[in-house]
This record gives sequence, structure tokens and C-alpha cells, in this order.
Amino acid sequence: MSRIFLDVLAGKAVSPAPLWLMRQAGRYLPEYRELRAQKGGFLDLCYDADAACEITLQPIRRFGFDAAILFSDILIVPHAIGQKLSFVENEGPRLAPPLFDAALDSLTPAPDHLAKIWQTVAKVRAGLDSDKDSDKALIGFCGSPWTVATYMIAGQGSRDQAPARLLAYQDDSRMTAIIERIIAVSIDYLSGQVKAGADALMLFDSWSGSLPPAEFEKWVIAPTQKIVSSIKALHPDVPIIGFPRGAGVKAPAYARETGVNALGLDEATDIGWVVPQLPDHLAVQGNIDPLALKAGGRALDAALDRLLDVMEGRPHIVNLGHGIDRFTPIAHVKQLRDRLREGRGRT
Ligand code: CP3
Repeated sequence: MSRIFLDVLAGKAVSPAPLWLMRQAGRYLPEYRELRAQKGGFLDLCYDADAACEITLQPIRRFGFDAAILFSDILIVPHAIGQKLSFVENEGPRLAPPLFDAALDSLTPAPDHLAKIWQTVAKVRAGLDSDKDSDKALIGFCGSPWTVATYMIAGQGSRDQAPARLLAYQDDSRMTAIIERIIAVSIDYLSGQVKAGADALMLFDSWSGSLPPAEFEKWVIAPTQKIVSSIKALHPDVPIIGFPRGAGVKAPAYARETGVNALGLDEATDIGWVVPQLPDHLAVQGNIDPLALKAGGRALDAALDRLLDVMEGRPHIVNLGHGIDRFTPIAHVKQLRDRLREGRGRT
């Protein structure tokens, strides 16, 4: 069995490059919408191992992507730390009490939540393994401490992540305690995912772009480095993808200092500038604009062709720069896959 996704993470250039999409399991798929309508809310799906396994495999069956990503959410970690978690339709997540006011130690830990997700990983692993010809890898994940903290502190998504940035300036020891707790739970959570069968891990840092350079070092790079070194000590062969969204010119330092095996890049990154700064063996993942995928047609072809030109000869995974938009036509996903795999990426 050859898993080209893992070959690339090991530093090998593969052509055509492996493909998967952030948020590939989700609302743009009718089969997801159907199961979600049957089962109730999003969180119910995450904690139902049979449903979550089925949803994880849906985009693999439909498109034959090279990697499956566990269907879950980065906010499972705050739930396990003891905040109440809900998702409000068309608004987003709510966490209570917000740690801007409430003390971390007032929360009652609920570690059982993690075990439910490990069950999903084990089921997906068994599902992939039951297909003898399967060459699909399984990605486990969690949020990075900074991004998870922004939700825990504000109690919801926040513009510019102001509550977390403010708390970090006003009360260094409270902020440090929150980040340290997230680090500890995330290491346990990721290690459990590897034991249950994840082949690779990804750290989503969706809001790393809102921090000035010194704070980026302190709240993004240092905590990520701690997670990477702890996971490498426990599971030396499991590659880790870091995705510091919005890091811009700080992305090469992030890659160097955290020790990740691969760097995920968002669509606003100037890959012509960032990629030459990276070590040759370091895999790069990204960075097609999700809106170019939604638009389809020539805009999508041009986005893929430019990406492949810049990435030629280096280990690279084709992906979006952020999650797929929920109104993306399925035909555009097929267009991207076919152009990549049929070798028409270069004109
Ligand atoms: O990539 C995948 O397919 C794996 C599953 C996955 C989800 N969320 C499923 C999901 C992953 C890796 C995430 C990560 C995640 N979750 C991030 C980091 C990546 C990013 O998008 O920046 C963040 C910030 C979250 C928190 C979160 N979860 C928000 C803000 C929301 C609400 C906004 C929205 O799009 O509705 C969610 C809900 C969520 N997570 C959905 C899915 C499929 C939508 C659920 C639904 O309504 O059916």
C-alpha cells in the first residue's frame, strides 16, 4: 500500500500531488445535510461515533481524496476542560462561562468527551482498513492553544480576538494557566487519536494572524512547539501539520521553531515569497482560495495551475487556504480533482 499523502509528509515530492480539502466533510454535501437532519445538532453528530465515522468517509467515497480528516471540532477540548458547549444555528459556537470573567478552576473537567472522539477514530480506521486496496490516510486534529483560548475567553467567536488579546496583556498568569491547560489536554487528546489509528495530525490555528510578532512567539509558536515535541516524544513517526492562518511573513519562523513536518498556508499567503524560505524537505499544504473553488471555471483552473507551478519539485499537498464554503458546487470539487490528477495542471 502506498499512501502518497504520508510520503509527502515524509518529505518526498509526488506528482500529481495528494489532495484533500479542509472541511471536506460538511454542509456542501447533500449526504451530510441528510444525516445531520436525521440526527439533530452538529455536536450530537460529533459524539455519535457511527454518524461521525460515516460523515468522515462520505467525501472519500464521493471524490476519492487522498486523506480523510476526523469529523469533529476544535471546541471538543474546551468541552473536556469543563465549559458548556453549544452551536447556535447560523451564529456559531457558544462556550460558558467565558474565561474572560470566570476562573479556570471553577470548571469541572469532563474528559469522557475525548473518549467518544477516539471511538470515531477507531471506527474510521477500521473502515479504511476494510478496503484492502485503500491508500487513504487518516488525519486527526485539534485546535492550537491560542485559537482555542480565543473561543474559551470570549465564550464565542470574536472580532479580532480582542478579549483574549486583552487578557494576555492584562493578566499574564491567568492567560498562561489557560494556555497550559489547553496544551495538556490537547497532548492527551492527540495521543489518544494516534493510539486509535490516526496516521497524521493537524493543528488548526485559525486566529494566529491577529497577534503582533512578540505575542505570536509567546502564544502561537511556544505552545505549538510544546505540543509538537511532546507528541514526537510519544509517537516519533507521526507527522504533524501546522496551520498558522494569517501568519504571513511569520510563517517561516513558525515552521522552523515549532518543528512541524508540514506547513499549511492560507490563500492570502504570497507563496512565491514564503515557499523559497522553507527547508526543501518541509511539506507545504494549501492554498487555493475557497472562493476560487466556489467560482469554478477558469478562475479555479488558474488558481490550481499557479499553485502547481510554484510547488513544482517540492513536497506539496493540494488543499484550500481555509475551509470549503458551504455553497460550493460539487462539480467544482470534481473539476479541481480531475485537473490535478489528469495532469492538465500546467499549461
Ligand atoms: O475539516 C473537516 O472536514 C473536519 C472537521 C472540522 C470541523 N471543524 C467541522 C465543523 C474541523 C477540522 C473543524 C475545525 C474548526 N472548528 C476550526 C478551525 C478551522 C477553521 O475553520 O478556521 C474552528 C475555528 C472551529 C470552530 C467552529 N466550528 C465554528 C466557528 C463553527 C461554526 C461556523 C460554521 O461554519 O458553522 C463550527 C461548526 C462546524 N465545525 C461545522 C462543521 C462541519 C458546521 C456544522 C453544521 O452546522 O453542520
